[in-house]
Amino acid sequence: MELFDVYPLYDVTPVSAKGIEVTDDKGETYFDFYGGHAVISIGHSHPHYVKRIKEQLEKIGFYSNSIQNPIQYQLAKHLGRLSNCEDYNLILCNSGAEANENALKLASFHTGKSKVIAFSNGFHGRTSAAVATTDNPAINAPINKQQQVTFLPLNDFEAFEGALKEDDYCTVILEAIQGVGGLDEPTTDFYQFVEKKCRERGVVLIADEVQSGFGRSGAFFAFQHHDVRPDIISIAKGMGNGFPVGGILIHKSIKASHGLLGTTFGGNHLACAATLAVLEILEKEKLIENAHNLGTYFKQEALKVPLVKRIKGRGLMLGLEFDFEVGDLRKRLIHNQHFFTGGSKNKKVLRILPALNFSEKHINLFFQALNRELS
Ligand SMILES: Cc1ncc(COP(=O)(O)O)c(C=O)c1O
Repeated sequence: MELFDVYPLYDVTPVSAKGIEVTDDKGETYFDFYGGHAVISIGHSHPHYVKRIKEQLEKIGFYSNSIQNPIQYQLAKHLGRLSNCEDYNLILCNSGAEANENALKLASFHTGKSKVIAFSNGFHGRTSAAVATTDNPAINAPINKQQQVTFLPLNDFEAFEGALKEDDYCTVILEAIQGVGGLDEPTTDFYQFVEKKCRERGVVLIADEVQSGFGRSGAFFAFQHHDVRPDIISIAKGMGNGFPVGGILIHKSIKASHGLLGTTFGGNHLACAATLAVLEILEKEKLIENAHNLGTYFKQEALKVPLVKRIKGRGLMLGLEFDFEVGDLRKRLIHNQHFFTGGSKNKKVLRILPALNFSEKHINLFFQALNRELS
């Protein structure tokens, strides 16, 4: 059997990783400024993370959601406290798309309505409703096109107010920093306007924090930079530091009932142990503050690179915009300089998504490498 060929691959084969360094099968070391699509939050193979997962596996790795699982409660408590979202309930799943699928479905159950507002250049995943709210026709199959989704430009107050006059919307889904799209953000005024209008009209506000959550933006959630309170918050990526886990935080005003949502694998013992390890390390090593401080330092250093036209994003969810497409630069950064970076839908943006425990020293090395490739 061969692999179903859907990914264009770089010719690098990592075999081990530690902190922000990845080593390939030839013994070459690379700096990971991409975290495998913003997934590596606490660094590769963090000793506490490895120990916690190993210990859990030796006790029990999995049982279904039809038994008591105290580690899920422990996780909900820790997550509620650290994220300052104690007035939400938690349900766990396995990925970002599944988190958004659950969020959209729940909004529809809650309101009895089916239309969705999403934003241009947004990305919410590849499953049925999630992909329909993703502004990319190329990844929507005919079967996905039956969902009723209105795409609006980000930060267009008039368009938003006009659309919401119709009475059949169940939800608005919004990234506080567009990851895949290229690091554009709603302004605070716009996010607060969206929140206010949703509340007035009884429309559920979903914050897609799959990429920007778990400290990456320099706050636990990126919407917290805007002083808003979404009804549902979707999470994944940095949550498990590579262990596949996702979830949604649901404001207590939305009531649960048996059978409303469910999953076989979601919230299993290993996934909870991985997520708890991430939370413990974020807190103990003050990584959210570190993300904030290093984001500021990175921006300062980026200003010194003449070819950088715009610096986008917050914390360690950053983008450097050039006036040329960065595909070739990314390849040269990998092969000549040994730095992994990311691309985005905006082909002129180089995405920077390192683990939250990296340091100024790594930023300095990155800019030396970037300058070598740009000169
Ligand atoms: C904001 C956002 N939402 C959802 C997803 C989908 O997550 P997953 O690939 O885990 O399904 C992504 C993935 O890039 C994302 O960036």
